[in-house]
Amino acid sequence: MEKKNICLDLNNTVWEKESALGARYCKAEGVLYCHSSTAPDKQRLNIYVPVEYLNGDGTVNRSGRCGGYTAETAPILYINGIGLYLGKVPYKITEKDDTLAGKNGWYYDYVKQGYVIVFAGARGKDDLDENSLAVGKAPVGLSDLKAGVRFLRRNKDKIPGDTDKIISSGMSAGGAMSILLAASGNSDKFDYHLKAMGAVMDERDDVFASQAYCPITDLDRADTAYEFMYINDDNGIANGMGAFNKALSEKLFSEYISYLNGRNITVGGVSYTLGADGRSGSFYDYILGKFVSSYRAENDGPLPSFLSSLDTIVKNHNHRSKACPCFDSLFSGGEGASVECGVFGRMRSKPTDPDFKRHFSPSVAEQIAALKDRFQGEYDEYYKLYKAQSESEDVKEQVALYNPYTYLDEGKTRVASKIRICVGSMDSATSTAVSAQLALTLASRGIDTEYEIMWGQGHTDADREGEFIAWVNRISK
Ligand code: DHB
Repeated sequence: MEKKNICLDLNNTVWEKESALGARYCKAEGVLYCHSSTAPDKQRLNIYVPVEYLNGDGTVNRSGRCGGYTAETAPILYINGIGLYLGKVPYKITEKDDTLAGKNGWYYDYVKQGYVIVFAGARGKDDLDENSLAVGKAPVGLSDLKAGVRFLRRNKDKIPGDTDKIISSGMSAGGAMSILLAASGNSDKFDYHLKAMGAVMDERDDVFASQAYCPITDLDRADTAYEFMYINDDNGIANGMGAFNKALSEKLFSEYISYLNGRNITVGGVSYTLGADGRSGSFYDYILGKFVSSYRAENDGPLPSFLSSLDTIVKNHNHRSKACPCFDSLFSGGEGASVECGVFGRMRSKPTDPDFKRHFSPSVAEQIAALKDRFQGEYDEYYKLYKAQSESEDVKEQVALYNPYTYLDEGKTRVASKIRICVGSMDSATSTAVSAQLALTLASRGIDTEYEIMWGQGHTDADREGEFIAWVNRISK
């Protein structure tokens, strides 16, 4: 096939035929998904389809077969490569890195399965327009990914694959995005950003399924969940935590217990709760059980004794890697600020502005206030800014739009029907409680949820060889 203009978009993308490692496919790279891009390198899709799915003239060959699918039935993998909430140009099929393809083979293997692969780029927290003003603060990354989904639906006659079987995937911040896409389908809360970027407005943006690796999510509560898990880890970074950090850790630990219990999570008649000590209760047992089955999936013989409690797990296997408070860090500005403070900066701020990064967690603010009597100096130093920034209307909205529970609790969106969450047993970029709570919440809403801790893996595309493909085939056929 010579290069054919498929007129998918504004920049006259063409399908080109290629083959590599036994996969034969046509690619359309650099497809712009919106009309008014402020980061034209990122707001694009790279699309790869099995060669059988296209006719020689570039039109869709509906009966074309590959793997177990046809051009009409093939699932569409919608993979974002977002990390650290930064902007991202879409992956290319030629890439094989630590994310996603690593444990699951080359992306070429997906072509051989008959999948349509769409790599989505998006703007992120540090992106600036030509005037050096921020264009990628929350909720822009998610809005961009939604625009890409809408674009696929608008062009479903020109792009092979079943747009009712869009399966999103991502790792870490990208895993959070994948969960958000799953939870927020067709929410009208994104209309402003979608219109502003010139996205397709009259198509749906829900996805059928979502794979999330190590999702860094529930950001405004993430500090409470982190201290719930790591409060008693007394090595490494924990040694650098002074009396104030430790006192704050205790406060956040306790807050997580009330928060989790207030979520009222019930699955299959079991209510998931924590005891007042945070080291008992059905939710605690659930997490511990997940670590045990994770070990069992890879090892025979007696269980190591450290698997008997969360405290021994974090002391022996999964160590604290961030000091308290780590998500909404004590300094919201400058070099000491966390990744997440950058996510909730003000749109159109300049990197030198004090609100390019902001505090966003009412939990951390509240617990600093609760320590006022004991730590007056720290209170005077930090509290005012935490409160002012985290309680400002636009931060509250940004935080809500980047929290999957906003959508799951409101019940107004079309939530993906299949969700697979995988984390590493040694991942300490966020608390295991975050993914456990999320998986149980999704299951409680009747969503077909698979949740697994992968033994010995860290903050990565935590998976076992072939299992992602097996899951995709299980839910798509
Ligand atoms: C990522 C890692 C983090 O530790 C974090 O706080 C946010 C995002 C990431 O790898 O995407």
